[in-house]
Amino acid sequence: MLAPIVHVLGARPNFVKAAPVIDALRAARYPQSVVHTGQHYDERLSDVFFAQLGLPEPDVNLGIGSGSHAEQTAAAMVGLEREFLARSPGLVVVYGDVNSTLAAALVAAKLHLPVAHVEAGLRSFDETMPEEINRRLTDQLCELLFTTSPEAVGHLVNEGVDLARVHFVGNPMIDTLLANLDRFDTERVRRDQALPDRYAVATLHRPANVDDPEVASTLVRALHEVAASADVVIPVHPRGRATLEAAGLSRDPRVHVREPLSYVEFVALVRGAAAVITDSGGVQEETTVLGVPCLTLRPNTERPITISHGTNRLVTYQELVPAARKAIEEPLTEADAPERPPLWDGRAGARIASVIAAWMERDVLR
Ligand code: UD1
Repeated sequence: MLAPIVHVLGARPNFVKAAPVIDALRAARYPQSVVHTGQHYDERLSDVFFAQLGLPEPDVNLGIGSGSHAEQTAAAMVGLEREFLARSPGLVVVYGDVNSTLAAALVAAKLHLPVAHVEAGLRSFDETMPEEINRRLTDQLCELLFTTSPEAVGHLVNEGVDLARVHFVGNPMIDTLLANLDRFDTERVRRDQALPDRYAVATLHRPANVDDPEVASTLVRALHEVAASADVVIPVHPRGRATLEAAGLSRDPRVHVREPLSYVEFVALVRGAAAVITDSGGVQEETTVLGVPCLTLRPNTERPITISHGTNRLVTYQELVPAARKAIEEPLTEADAPERPPLWDGRAGARIASVIAAWMERDVLR
């Protein structure tokens, strides 16, 4: 009897990445369980995603909730240690770069449990981002590293990771997107959200953009200017809501402030948008595949492939308004569409499952 594969999930983007991996391992009949740390706990950031993506109910939710980085990481570690000791996993699988990811990798490594990291090797080289610290440290602790792009393999090798552990498999977040294409009904969601034909979507939640009231105020002014070219819909992450509202976000009637949307509603809106303004990692990837112009309000990205093979562009607050106006007024044509990044073909989950299967069998025979 094989020891179970335990997937550790904590925050919204983890759910989107894990769905195709869990699905492929389920098809291969591997025993698996899901531990939800509870980092994201609002129904709209968590439950809705489990339901829409067909994820199994978590076997346990540790309910760690919000807190400082130390509080959140420590609470996750204490709960995960207890779970790993009780479940004796054959492999722990972690996703992305959130605090729950690092907590799980650290606990597993100290218990001598092998860890697999889905979305390994991405680097922004910006140590002011907590995610960069989470990624670097997680990758050092893993037995299996699954990358979404060739340059991620290079970063891992540069950091001394044994190439035999690294597997370039493509992008499971894009598996989820391609598997759900038929469900993205842009017209319906546009009508439900009371938006005109031409609109832009904005999503902003990074501390660098939404924590400081002065920065938030510059950002809100820029969004109001963009709204002079096309209505802007902004599903607001709870993190930034108070600061952005205090800066007058909803004062402009062409800026439509909404609660966080479900996965299917959100991607449907992005698909029909004239432009997307974001600081999210996943949205840079989704717009790349959907061919929607993406303006990323960050000085760097750990996903440069979305610039070289996609529609993404990094912008400052000053550059945002002219860039958005251009994207809205001069729509991309088919001829502008860049070639999709290699292996972003909807089969990453299956590739990950087959590497894990081979690795598990090898472990049994050893
Ligand atoms: C986290 C990840 C970030 C990821 C994002 C996706 C880290 C360090 N950050 O950021 O990389 O891009 O998730 O959404 O792990 N809150 C709620 N309800 C919730 C969750 C959070 O109201 O269900 C509010 C709380 O005020 C909380 C704040 O949002 O303090 C921040 O939540 P947290 O999980 O710490 O980080 P995110 O900003 O969501």
